Amino acid sequence: MTDRELMDIAEQASKKAYVPYSRFAVGAALECSDGTVYAGCNVENAALGSTICAERTACVKAVSEGHTDFVRIAIYGEGQGYCMPCGACRQFLSEFSTDMEVLCAKAGGRYVSYKLRELLPHTFNY
Ligand code: THU
Repeated sequence: MTDRELMDIAEQASKKAYVPYSRFAVGAALECSDGTVYAGCNVENAALGSTICAERTACVKAVSEGHTDFVRIAIYGEGQGYCMPCGACRQFLSEFSTDMEVLCAKAGGRYVSYKLRELLPHTFNY
């Protein structure tokens, strides 16, 4: 699958976002080493701290289906800037691989890519 195809899945996922508070929809598409892709969106809550980001939705879907071997994640947000994963999502994903590629798109679909370890060096672990 190309980066663009993975990003298209992320963009489609953003259309399912539940965002009555921020109105900022995010979609993520997480690719596993066997080619399986799990999509997710952000799901907000009136108790704002209970909100779940798109990346963690996708990750939890994958892990709960028995997949933990991740190679790439595409993140799409309709903002002016590239939609970068928040700190909590970086740490959450790093549990499984710091080698995965992270594609971050903005409105219109242009994206930048990083390795997760570039975005979160010195990840917490014990
Ligand atoms: N959000 C994500 O889905 N992923 C991130 O990495 C950062 C933020 C969501 C959470 C909230 O619903 C909205 O973006 C605005 O913060």
